[in-house]
Formats: sequence, C-alpha cells, structure tokens
Amino acid sequence: MKPPGRPLHFEYRTDADTNGGGMAADVRRGLQSDPKRLPSKYFYDARGSDLFEQICAQPEYYLTRVELGILRRHGPDLARAIGERAMLVEYGSGSGVKTRLLLEALIDPVAYVPVEISASALKQSVEQLAARFDQVQMLPLCADFNTRVALPTPRREPRSVLIFFPGSTLGNFEQTEALQLLRVMHDEMGAQGAALIGIDLKKDPAVLEAAYNDAAGVTAAFTLNLLGRLNRELGADFDLSQFVHRARYNAQAGRIETHIVSRVDQQVRLQQARIEFATCEKMLVEYSCKYSLPEFDAMASRAGLQVTRTWTDDDQRFALLLLRRGAGPASTA
Ligand code: AVI
Repeated sequence: MKPPGRPLHFEYRTDADTNGGGMAADVRRGLQSDPKRLPSKYFYDARGSDLFEQICAQPEYYLTRVELGILRRHGPDLARAIGERAMLVEYGSGSGVKTRLLLEALIDPVAYVPVEISASALKQSVEQLAARFDQVQMLPLCADFNTRVALPTPRREPRSVLIFFPGSTLGNFEQTEALQLLRVMHDEMGAQGAALIGIDLKKDPAVLEAAYNDAAGVTAAFTLNLLGRLNRELGADFDLSQFVHRARYNAQAGRIETHIVSRVDQQVRLQQARIEFATCEKMLVEYSCKYSLPEFDAMASRAGLQVTRTWTDDDQRFALLLLRRGAGPASTA
C-alpha cells in the first residue's frame, strides 16, 4: 500500500482528440436521420455513470453479478492460462472491482494501462488502483480504444499483453464495429498476448428483457438521462416526461434493442434546429448483443483470433473468453 498522504503522480499520455466536440455533430446527425438514433456512448456522463452503477446492482441485471462470480471462482485458473508478468490493458476506464479481482489473481502483473477517452474517469480509476497495487506500474492512456494506439513501455519488461474487455461491452457494438475492435485487439496484443472478453450469452428472452426493464425503473432513468444530458450540454429542450424507455429482445438479430419512444406529437429544439417527433416514434439508442459460444468463435476467427479458454457460470448465462492469435486470417483493417 502507498503510505497515506503520499501524492500520486501519473503522466497521462494522450493519443486521441479528447475534446468531445463530436457529440453535437453526432447528435444532430442522429436526430436528423430516419429512423432517428443516438449513440449509446453518450449515456455515460457523471449521472449516467452513476445510474449504470445502480443498474449493476438491480436484481434483474444478472450480468455484473455473474461475471464477478466467474472472476472470483476461476481467478487462479485464469491467471495460469494468462501467464506471469502480463501488462494489463483495459479498454475503458477500468471496471472497479473486476479490475481489482483480475489484478489480485494475475501472477506478478507488470503494469496496468486503462485506455479511456475521458481524462477524469481515467484519473479516478488509476488513483484507486495505485493505492492498492504498488508493484503494478499505472500507465493511463487517454485515447479512443476503437483506434490503434501505441501502448506505453513499462519499466519492467512484460512477458505479454493482456487486453481486458469485461462487462459485455463488446455487445454494445454493431457486428462490423465489434469485428473491427477485435482486429484492433489482434494487432495490439502481439504474438504472445491475449484478450479476456466478457460476453453475455443467449438465453430465455424473458430473462433478457427483465434485465433491461428493471422493476425499479433504473434502466429507464439511465436511458432517458441521455435526453437530460442533451438539455444540459447542448441546450436542447427535451421534456423527459413526454418520452419513454423501451427495451425488447430481437431474437433474429440476437440483441436487446433499446429505444426512446415519443408519447405525443412534439417538437424539440436542438441548437438552431427544430426536431419533430410523431406519437409513438422511436429513436434507437442502444444494442446489447447476445452471443452463443459458436457464434462468438466464428466472429473471433474472422478477426484472426481463436478462443482458447472459456469460463462460464453453472447456468451458462455469461462467459469470460480468452482469445489468442489463431491460425486464421490475419488482421486486415
Ligand atoms: C455497458 N453495457 C454492457 C450495458 C449492457 O448491458 O448493454 C449497458 C446497459 N444498458 C442498459 N442496461 C445496461
């Protein structure tokens, strides 16, 4: 542990344009398209991140609990499969307790590199972990993990790179984007490296729909907060009481599709534009893709990756997969 009061200093390497100026343009484009849609990455302002934490604690939202259970139960086995002296690279700002469990299980991890576009989220994540893991060099990287970045060189030489992408976050990307992200992982992990990815498995649609429509209404508040954020940050005038959250499972596509639906005919101001909504008009805000293990295998192999180990819970609700470079086609993107 760090002695109390000792100031922590990290160098925040920046590999991306983090000004966030893209949001206004993305939102304008999304609201002027037909059908309307908004990118789910904008859910996560401070309030959205707080609501997401609350979602993870809802009884219907099994994903977080089950993944944590897998990490706790199989930590030592996972660590053996990964090997010693890995440099842990996490896509996103760090998933708190999951990152801590993984770092506790890994054998002599060399460094921790969260790759995250938000500097404040990045700072928070490394400061907490640095206090707990003083042998692990913290190398936060302020960048968009969707694009290839040059990974930092830690003081101690790592034996391999381990990319950690838990929480079924890959499921929030459409098929082509998910494939592109797997290709980025393929390139970044190097010859000896691996990726540890959490995916939500296909199951009874009623269980899936309950997870995205919790009885306490937290997911609905999380979804509608997106409109609140547009009011706060872009000066829009959405009346949140005139919209509802709707999450349904599309069995053919294998995904939960979340929409915001207009209750009435209405007009919303967004900067200079006026956006019309018809009664029952729906705006797509999120996909949460669900996979079968063979489907995921097939997608991974298209990115030149092979699933080498699978850890799951007794009810096969969720899986943590270890992927390495395979004999298949190399990354082309
Ligand atoms: C972050 N992501 C994996 C969550 C999911 O399950 O798709 C986001 C979420 N949306 C509604 N509930 C949770």
